[in-house]
Amino acid sequence: MTTRTFDVVRLIDAKRRGEAIDPAGIAELVARYVDGRVPDYQMSAFAMAVVFRGLDAQETLALTEAMVRSGDRFDLRAIGHRIVDKHSTGGVGDKVSIALAPIVAACGVPFAKMSGRGLGHTGGTLDKLESIPGFTIEMGYDRFIDQVRSVGVAIIGQSGECVPADRKLYALRDVTATVESIPLIAASIMSKKLAAGADAIVLDVKVGSGAFMKSMNDARELADTMIAIGQGAGREVRAMVTDMSAPLGRTVGNALEIREVRDLLEGRHAPDLLELVITAAGLLLSLSDLDIEPAKGRELAGTAIRSGTARERFDAWIRAQGGDPDAPLPEAPVQLDVTIPYGGVITRLDALAVGRAAADLGAGRQTTEDRVDHAVGVELHRQVGEQVADDELVMTVHARSELAAQRAADSILGHLEIDHDADAVPFDRSVVIECRG
Ligand code: URA
Repeated sequence: MTTRTFDVVRLIDAKRRGEAIDPAGIAELVARYVDGRVPDYQMSAFAMAVVFRGLDAQETLALTEAMVRSGDRFDLRAIGHRIVDKHSTGGVGDKVSIALAPIVAACGVPFAKMSGRGLGHTGGTLDKLESIPGFTIEMGYDRFIDQVRSVGVAIIGQSGECVPADRKLYALRDVTATVESIPLIAASIMSKKLAAGADAIVLDVKVGSGAFMKSMNDARELADTMIAIGQGAGREVRAMVTDMSAPLGRTVGNALEIREVRDLLEGRHAPDLLELVITAAGLLLSLSDLDIEPAKGRELAGTAIRSGTARERFDAWIRAQGGDPDAPLPEAPVQLDVTIPYGGVITRLDALAVGRAAADLGAGRQTTEDRVDHAVGVELHRQVGEQVADDELVMTVHARSELAAQRAADSILGHLEIDHDADAVPFDRSVVIECRG
Protein backbone atom coordinates (compact mmCIF):
# COMPACT_ATOMS: atom_id res chain seq x y z
CA MET A 1 0.00 0.00 0.00
CA THR A 2 1.66 3.30 -1.01
CA THR A 3 1.06 6.65 0.66
CA ARG A 4 -1.14 7.87 -2.21
CA THR A 5 -3.39 4.85 -2.01
CA PHE A 6 -3.30 4.57 1.78
CA ASP A 7 -6.63 3.20 2.94
CA VAL A 8 -6.86 2.77 6.69
CA VAL A 9 -10.05 0.68 6.56
CA ARG A 10 -8.43 -1.81 4.18
CA LEU A 11 -5.38 -1.97 6.43
CA ILE A 12 -7.49 -2.68 9.55
CA ASP A 13 -9.48 -5.25 7.60
CA ALA A 14 -6.31 -6.96 6.37
CA LYS A 15 -5.02 -7.25 9.93
CA ARG A 16 -8.43 -8.45 11.15
CA ARG A 17 -8.19 -11.28 8.61
CA GLY A 18 -4.66 -12.10 9.81
CA GLU A 19 -2.71 -10.74 6.83
CA ALA A 20 0.72 -9.17 7.24
CA ILE A 21 0.92 -5.41 6.67
CA ASP A 22 3.94 -4.08 4.81
CA PRO A 23 6.34 -1.78 6.72
CA ALA A 24 5.34 1.26 4.61
CA GLY A 25 1.67 0.74 5.56
CA ILE A 26 2.51 0.55 9.25
CA ALA A 27 4.75 3.63 9.03
CA GLU A 28 1.95 5.58 7.33
CA LEU A 29 -0.62 4.43 9.89
CA VAL A 30 1.54 5.62 12.81
CA ALA A 31 2.45 8.93 11.15
CA ARG A 32 -1.21 9.65 10.38
CA TYR A 33 -2.31 8.63 13.89
CA VAL A 34 0.19 11.01 15.50
CA ASP A 35 -0.85 13.99 13.38
CA GLY A 36 -4.57 13.25 13.79
CA ARG A 37 -5.46 12.07 10.28
CA VAL A 38 -6.22 8.60 11.67
CA PRO A 39 -8.70 9.00 14.54
CA ASP A 40 -8.66 7.08 17.83
CA TYR A 41 -11.53 4.81 16.81
CA GLN A 42 -9.64 3.48 13.80
CA MET A 43 -6.40 3.07 15.73
CA SER A 44 -8.22 1.19 18.50
CA ALA A 45 -9.78 -1.14 15.89
CA PHE A 46 -6.29 -1.78 14.53
CA ALA A 47 -4.91 -2.40 18.05
CA MET A 48 -7.72 -4.88 18.76
CA ALA A 49 -7.00 -6.69 15.48
CA VAL A 50 -3.35 -6.94 16.60
CA VAL A 51 -4.41 -8.33 19.99
CA PHE A 52 -6.17 -11.20 18.19
CA ARG A 53 -3.96 -11.66 15.12
CA GLY A 54 -0.53 -10.56 16.36
CA LEU A 55 2.29 -9.00 14.33
CA ASP A 56 5.19 -10.82 12.71
CA ALA A 57 8.81 -9.79 13.33
CA GLN A 58 8.94 -7.42 10.34
CA GLU A 59 5.67 -5.71 11.28
CA THR A 60 6.75 -5.38 14.92
CA LEU A 61 10.05 -3.78 13.93
CA ALA A 62 8.25 -1.46 11.48
CA LEU A 63 5.80 -0.40 14.20
CA THR A 64 8.63 0.24 16.67
CA GLU A 65 10.69 2.25 14.18
CA ALA A 66 7.67 4.30 13.12
CA MET A 67 7.01 5.15 16.77
CA VAL A 68 10.66 6.14 17.29
CA ARG A 69 10.46 8.49 14.28
CA SER A 70 7.44 10.25 15.82
CA GLY A 71 9.58 12.28 18.25
CA ASP A 72 13.02 13.31 19.53
CA ARG A 73 15.89 10.85 19.27
CA PHE A 74 18.83 11.26 21.59
CA ASP A 75 22.34 11.04 20.30
CA LEU A 76 24.68 9.99 23.12
CA ARG A 77 27.80 9.68 20.96
CA ALA A 78 29.14 12.91 22.50
CA ILE A 79 29.81 10.92 25.70
CA GLY A 80 32.57 9.14 23.82
CA HIS A 81 31.90 5.62 25.16
CA ARG A 82 29.54 2.80 24.37
CA ILE A 83 26.44 3.62 26.42
CA VAL A 84 24.55 0.91 28.25
CA ASP A 85 20.98 1.07 29.52
CA LYS A 86 18.72 -1.29 31.43
CA HIS A 87 14.97 -1.74 31.46
CA SER A 88 12.69 -3.77 33.68
CA THR A 89 9.16 -4.64 32.64
CA GLY A 90 8.18 -3.72 36.19
CA GLY A 91 7.65 -5.53 39.41
CA VAL A 92 6.99 -5.10 43.11
CA GLY A 93 9.98 -3.77 45.07
CA ASP A 94 12.10 -3.44 41.92
CA LYS A 95 14.84 -0.96 42.76
CA VAL A 96 17.52 -2.68 40.66
CA SER A 97 18.24 0.21 38.25
CA ILE A 98 18.96 2.60 41.12
CA ALA A 99 21.53 0.24 42.63
CA LEU A 100 22.93 -0.81 39.29
CA ALA A 101 23.64 2.67 37.92
CA PRO A 102 26.37 3.68 40.41
CA ILE A 103 27.86 0.17 40.44
CA VAL A 104 28.31 0.14 36.66
CA ALA A 105 29.64 3.71 36.74
CA ALA A 106 32.12 2.78 39.49
CA CYS A 107 33.41 0.08 37.11
CA GLY A 108 34.21 2.79 34.54
CA VAL A 109 31.14 2.38 32.31
CA PRO A 110 28.80 5.36 31.80
CA PHE A 111 25.15 4.69 32.63
CA ALA A 112 22.63 7.01 30.97
CA LYS A 113 18.95 6.34 31.51
CA MET A 114 15.76 8.14 30.64
CA SER A 115 12.77 6.85 32.51
CA GLY A 116 9.06 7.34 32.05
CA ARG A 117 6.68 7.85 34.96
CA GLY A 118 4.45 4.88 34.26
CA LEU A 119 1.62 3.60 36.37
CA GLY A 120 1.98 0.90 38.96
CA HIS A 121 1.53 -0.45 42.44
CA THR A 122 4.53 1.48 43.67
CA GLY A 123 6.14 4.45 42.04
CA GLY A 124 8.61 3.98 39.21
CA THR A 125 12.35 4.63 39.32
CA LEU A 126 11.80 8.40 39.05
CA ASP A 127 9.38 8.48 42.01
CA LYS A 128 11.79 6.47 44.13
CA LEU A 129 14.63 8.86 43.31
CA GLU A 130 12.44 11.88 44.02
CA SER A 131 11.94 10.68 47.59
CA ILE A 132 15.54 11.86 48.16
CA PRO A 133 15.28 15.49 49.36
CA GLY A 134 16.29 17.91 46.59
CA PHE A 135 16.74 15.31 43.85
CA THR A 136 15.56 16.48 40.43
CA ILE A 137 14.84 14.35 37.39
CA GLU A 138 14.47 17.32 35.08
CA MET A 139 17.49 18.25 33.06
CA GLY A 140 18.28 19.53 29.57
CA TYR A 141 20.16 17.43 27.03
CA ASP A 142 23.49 19.32 27.40
CA ARG A 143 23.55 18.98 31.19
CA PHE A 144 22.57 15.32 30.90
CA ILE A 145 25.54 14.66 28.59
CA ASP A 146 27.90 16.70 30.84
CA GLN A 147 26.79 14.79 33.92
CA VAL A 148 27.23 11.37 32.29
CA ARG A 149 30.71 12.48 31.20
CA SER A 150 31.79 13.87 34.57
CA VAL A 151 29.97 11.66 37.10
CA GLY A 152 29.41 8.59 34.92
CA VAL A 153 25.72 8.32 35.70
CA ALA A 154 22.45 10.17 35.16
CA ILE A 155 18.83 9.05 35.35
CA ILE A 156 16.32 11.63 34.16
CA GLY A 157 12.68 11.91 33.12
CA GLN A 158 11.79 11.36 29.49
CA SER A 159 11.08 14.61 27.66
CA GLY A 160 7.51 15.13 26.45
CA GLU A 161 8.72 14.81 22.88
CA CYS A 162 10.22 11.36 23.34
CA VAL A 163 8.08 8.89 21.32
CA PRO A 164 4.78 10.85 21.31
CA ALA A 165 3.26 8.00 19.24
CA ASP A 166 3.70 5.65 22.19
CA ARG A 167 2.23 8.17 24.65
CA LYS A 168 -0.87 8.54 22.49
CA LEU A 169 -1.21 4.86 21.62
CA TYR A 170 -0.56 3.62 25.17
CA ALA A 171 -3.27 5.93 26.55
CA LEU A 172 -5.66 4.55 23.91
CA ARG A 173 -4.73 0.93 24.63
CA ASP A 174 -5.29 1.55 28.33
CA VAL A 175 -8.96 2.42 27.75
CA THR A 176 -9.70 -0.09 24.97
CA ALA A 177 -8.46 -3.31 26.62
CA THR A 178 -5.63 -3.62 24.12
CA VAL A 179 -2.62 -3.40 26.46
CA GLU A 180 -2.20 -7.15 26.60
CA SER A 181 -0.53 -7.90 23.30
CA ILE A 182 3.10 -9.01 23.23
CA PRO A 183 4.07 -7.19 19.99
CA LEU A 184 2.36 -3.98 21.16
CA ILE A 185 4.08 -4.15 24.57
CA ALA A 186 7.44 -4.96 22.94
CA ALA A 187 7.12 -2.10 20.42
CA SER A 188 6.07 0.32 23.17
CA ILE A 189 9.00 -0.51 25.45
CA MET A 190 11.63 -0.78 22.72
CA SER A 191 10.58 2.43 20.94
CA LYS A 192 11.42 4.36 24.11
CA LYS A 193 14.70 2.49 24.60
CA LEU A 194 15.79 3.04 20.99
CA ALA A 195 14.88 6.75 21.10
CA ALA A 196 16.89 7.18 24.31
CA GLY A 197 20.04 6.36 22.34
CA ALA A 198 21.93 3.61 24.23
CA ASP A 199 24.13 1.26 22.19
CA ALA A 200 23.36 -1.78 24.34
CA ILE A 201 20.36 -2.64 26.45
CA VAL A 202 19.78 -5.22 29.19
CA LEU A 203 16.14 -6.18 29.65
CA ASP A 204 14.76 -7.68 32.84
CA VAL A 205 11.48 -9.37 31.90
CA LYS A 206 9.55 -10.17 35.06
CA VAL A 207 7.29 -13.19 35.33
CA GLY A 208 4.80 -14.04 38.08
CA SER A 209 1.88 -12.61 40.01
CA GLY A 210 3.45 -9.17 40.48
CA ALA A 211 4.43 -8.82 36.80
CA PHE A 212 2.78 -7.98 33.49
CA MET A 213 3.63 -11.46 32.22
CA LYS A 214 2.04 -14.17 34.33
CA SER A 215 3.42 -17.21 32.49
CA MET A 216 6.95 -18.24 31.60
CA ASN A 217 5.96 -18.80 27.95
CA ASP A 218 4.64 -15.25 27.60
CA ALA A 219 7.70 -13.81 29.36
CA ARG A 220 10.02 -15.70 27.00
CA GLU A 221 8.05 -14.55 23.98
CA LEU A 222 8.19 -10.93 25.14
CA ALA A 223 11.95 -11.23 25.75
CA ASP A 224 12.52 -12.76 22.30
CA THR A 225 10.36 -10.14 20.62
CA MET A 226 12.24 -7.26 22.26
CA ILE A 227 15.62 -8.81 21.44
CA ALA A 228 14.60 -9.16 17.78
CA ILE A 229 13.50 -5.51 17.66
CA GLY A 230 16.79 -4.35 19.24
CA GLN A 231 18.86 -6.41 16.85
CA GLY A 232 16.78 -5.29 13.87
CA ALA A 233 17.51 -1.69 14.90
CA GLY A 234 21.25 -2.35 15.24
CA ARG A 235 21.51 -2.45 19.02
CA GLU A 236 22.89 -5.18 21.24
CA VAL A 237 20.27 -6.55 23.60
CA ARG A 238 20.37 -9.20 26.34
CA ALA A 239 17.32 -10.29 28.29
CA MET A 240 16.87 -11.97 31.62
CA VAL A 241 13.56 -13.51 32.66
CA THR A 242 13.28 -13.26 36.43
CA ASP A 243 10.77 -14.36 39.04
CA MET A 244 8.26 -11.82 40.35
CA SER A 245 5.98 -14.12 42.35
CA ALA A 246 7.14 -12.45 45.59
CA PRO A 247 8.42 -8.87 46.12
CA LEU A 248 12.06 -8.20 45.30
CA GLY A 249 14.29 -7.54 48.30
CA ARG A 250 12.93 -6.36 51.63
CA THR A 251 11.07 -3.16 50.86
CA VAL A 252 8.15 -1.98 48.74
CA GLY A 253 7.58 1.79 48.67
CA ASN A 254 9.57 4.72 47.35
CA ALA A 255 11.72 6.05 50.24
CA LEU A 256 11.94 2.58 51.79
CA GLU A 257 13.42 1.27 48.56
CA ILE A 258 16.01 4.07 48.43
CA ARG A 259 17.02 3.12 51.96
CA GLU A 260 17.43 -0.49 50.79
CA VAL A 261 19.62 0.62 47.87
CA ARG A 262 21.86 2.62 50.24
CA ASP A 263 22.12 -0.44 52.49
CA LEU A 264 23.04 -2.64 49.54
CA LEU A 265 25.78 -0.24 48.47
CA GLU A 266 27.12 -0.43 52.04
CA GLY A 267 27.17 -4.23 52.00
CA ARG A 268 23.88 -4.99 53.81
CA HIS A 269 21.52 -6.66 51.41
CA ALA A 270 18.80 -9.22 50.79
CA PRO A 271 20.40 -12.08 48.83
CA ASP A 272 17.78 -12.07 46.06
CA LEU A 273 18.24 -8.37 45.38
CA LEU A 274 22.02 -8.59 45.37
CA GLU A 275 21.93 -11.57 42.99
CA LEU A 276 19.79 -9.72 40.49
CA VAL A 277 21.81 -6.49 40.70
CA ILE A 278 25.11 -8.32 40.26
CA THR A 279 23.80 -10.40 37.35
CA ALA A 280 22.42 -7.35 35.54
CA ALA A 281 25.69 -5.48 36.21
CA GLY A 282 27.69 -8.39 34.78
CA LEU A 283 25.62 -8.33 31.60
CA LEU A 284 25.81 -4.55 31.23
CA LEU A 285 29.57 -4.53 31.73
CA SER A 286 29.94 -7.33 29.17
CA LEU A 287 28.14 -5.15 26.61
CA SER A 288 30.26 -2.07 27.38
CA ASP A 289 33.55 -1.14 25.77
CA LEU A 290 35.32 -2.98 28.62
CA ASP A 291 34.61 -6.01 26.39
CA ILE A 292 34.65 -8.62 29.18
CA GLU A 293 32.69 -11.77 29.95
CA PRO A 294 29.55 -11.44 32.16
CA ALA A 295 31.29 -13.50 34.89
CA LYS A 296 34.13 -10.97 35.03
CA GLY A 297 31.52 -8.19 35.09
CA ARG A 298 29.86 -9.80 38.13
CA GLU A 299 33.23 -9.93 39.84
CA LEU A 300 33.94 -6.23 39.14
CA ALA A 301 30.45 -5.28 40.38
CA GLY A 302 30.99 -7.19 43.65
CA THR A 303 34.34 -5.45 44.14
CA ALA A 304 32.75 -2.03 43.51
CA ILE A 305 30.28 -2.70 46.34
CA ARG A 306 32.82 -4.14 48.80
CA SER A 307 35.39 -1.39 48.19
CA GLY A 308 32.84 1.40 48.71
CA THR A 309 33.45 2.91 45.24
CA ALA A 310 29.84 2.19 44.19
CA ARG A 311 28.53 4.04 47.26
CA GLU A 312 30.87 6.96 46.52
CA ARG A 313 29.54 7.05 42.97
CA PHE A 314 25.98 6.97 44.27
CA ASP A 315 26.73 10.00 46.49
CA ALA A 316 28.32 11.93 43.60
CA TRP A 317 25.37 11.12 41.33
CA ILE A 318 22.71 12.15 43.85
CA ARG A 319 24.58 15.43 44.56
CA ALA A 320 24.93 16.13 40.82
CA GLN A 321 21.12 15.95 40.52
CA GLY A 322 20.57 18.28 43.48
CA GLY A 323 19.94 15.71 46.22
CA ASP A 324 21.58 15.02 49.55
CA PRO A 325 22.59 11.33 49.62
CA ASP A 326 22.68 11.21 53.42
CA ALA A 327 19.58 13.29 54.16
CA PRO A 328 16.87 11.63 56.24
CA LEU A 329 14.23 10.18 53.92
CA PRO A 330 10.50 10.86 54.34
CA GLU A 331 8.97 8.74 57.12
CA ALA A 332 5.33 7.78 57.54
CA PRO A 333 3.65 8.75 60.85
CA VAL A 334 2.43 5.19 61.54
CA GLN A 335 4.71 2.15 61.59
CA LEU A 336 2.75 -0.97 62.37
CA ASP A 337 4.76 -4.05 63.34
CA VAL A 338 3.05 -7.25 62.24
CA THR A 339 3.71 -10.64 63.86
CA ILE A 340 2.23 -14.05 63.22
CA PRO A 341 1.13 -16.30 66.08
CA TYR A 342 2.23 -19.70 64.70
CA GLY A 343 5.63 -20.01 63.11
CA GLY A 344 6.90 -22.13 60.23
CA VAL A 345 8.46 -21.55 56.81
CA ILE A 346 6.96 -18.93 54.49
CA THR A 347 5.97 -20.71 51.28
CA ARG A 348 4.12 -17.83 49.62
CA LEU A 349 4.22 -14.06 49.99
CA ASP A 350 2.28 -12.87 47.00
CA ALA A 351 3.88 -10.02 45.05
CA LEU A 352 0.58 -8.77 43.67
CA ALA A 353 -1.01 -8.65 47.15
CA VAL A 354 1.94 -6.68 48.55
CA GLY A 355 1.91 -4.39 45.50
CA ARG A 356 -1.80 -3.70 45.84
CA ALA A 357 -1.46 -3.06 49.56
CA ALA A 358 1.38 -0.59 48.88
CA ALA A 359 -0.75 1.10 46.20
CA ASP A 360 -3.68 1.43 48.64
CA LEU A 361 -1.32 3.03 51.14
CA GLY A 362 -0.53 5.65 48.46
CA ALA A 363 2.86 4.44 47.17
CA GLY A 364 1.76 4.13 43.52
CA ARG A 365 -0.45 5.89 41.01
CA GLN A 366 -3.54 4.81 39.07
CA THR A 367 -3.57 7.78 36.70
CA THR A 368 -0.71 9.93 35.48
CA GLU A 369 -2.06 12.88 37.52
CA ASP A 370 -1.97 11.04 40.89
CA ARG A 371 0.60 12.14 43.46
CA VAL A 372 2.78 9.46 44.95
CA ASP A 373 3.31 9.30 48.73
CA HIS A 374 7.06 8.73 49.13
CA ALA A 375 6.94 7.71 52.80
CA VAL A 376 4.49 4.81 52.83
CA GLY A 377 5.08 1.16 52.02
CA VAL A 378 5.87 -2.26 53.39
CA GLU A 379 9.09 -3.48 54.96
CA LEU A 380 9.47 -7.26 54.94
CA HIS A 381 11.50 -8.78 57.78
CA ARG A 382 11.00 -12.31 56.46
CA GLN A 383 10.76 -13.60 52.90
CA VAL A 384 9.69 -16.73 51.04
CA GLY A 385 11.74 -19.75 52.12
CA GLU A 386 12.62 -18.30 55.53
CA GLN A 387 11.71 -19.61 58.97
CA VAL A 388 9.52 -17.50 61.26
CA ALA A 389 9.17 -18.30 64.98
CA ASP A 390 5.83 -18.05 66.85
CA ASP A 391 4.96 -14.39 67.45
CA GLU A 392 7.94 -13.20 65.41
CA LEU A 393 7.88 -9.95 63.45
CA VAL A 394 7.26 -10.56 59.71
CA MET A 395 6.73 -7.05 58.41
CA THR A 396 6.33 -3.38 59.28
CA VAL A 397 3.68 -1.39 57.44
CA HIS A 398 4.48 2.32 56.97
CA ALA A 399 1.23 4.26 56.63
CA ARG A 400 -0.56 7.59 57.09
CA SER A 401 -3.07 6.13 59.60
CA GLU A 402 -3.55 3.11 61.89
CA LEU A 403 -6.58 2.10 59.85
CA ALA A 404 -4.69 2.15 56.53
CA ALA A 405 -1.82 0.21 58.10
CA GLN A 406 -4.13 -2.46 59.53
CA ARG A 407 -5.96 -2.86 56.21
CA ALA A 408 -2.67 -3.32 54.34
CA ALA A 409 -1.42 -5.83 56.93
CA ASP A 410 -4.65 -7.85 56.77
CA SER A 411 -4.67 -8.02 53.00
CA ILE A 412 -1.02 -9.14 52.83
CA LEU A 413 -1.51 -11.72 55.59
CA GLY A 414 -4.44 -13.11 53.56
CA HIS A 415 -1.91 -13.96 50.82
CA LEU A 416 0.89 -15.23 53.06
CA GLU A 417 1.22 -18.99 53.41
CA ILE A 418 3.19 -20.75 56.09
CA ASP A 419 4.10 -24.43 56.27
CA HIS A 420 4.38 -25.29 59.95
CA ASP A 421 6.35 -28.49 59.29
CA ALA A 422 8.71 -27.54 56.44
CA ASP A 423 12.41 -26.74 56.77
CA ALA A 424 13.77 -23.41 55.62
CA VAL A 425 15.03 -23.54 52.02
CA PRO A 426 17.87 -21.53 50.46
CA PHE A 427 16.67 -18.14 49.36
CA ASP A 428 16.87 -18.27 45.57
CA ARG A 429 13.42 -17.00 44.57
CA SER A 430 14.59 -14.17 42.40
CA VAL A 431 17.59 -15.63 40.65
CA VAL A 432 17.88 -15.30 36.90
CA ILE A 433 15.99 -18.06 35.20
CA GLU A 434 17.02 -17.33 31.69
CA CYS A 435 19.52 -15.21 29.86
CA ARG A 436 19.49 -14.89 26.10
CA GLY A 437 20.25 -12.60 23.22
N1 URA B 1 5.14 -0.77 29.54
C1 URA B 1 5.22 0.00 28.43
O1 URA B 1 6.04 0.92 28.35
N2 URA B 1 4.38 -0.26 27.41
C2 URA B 1 3.47 -1.26 27.42
O2 URA B 1 2.76 -1.45 26.45
C3 URA B 1 3.39 -2.05 28.58
C4 URA B 1 4.23 -1.79 29.62
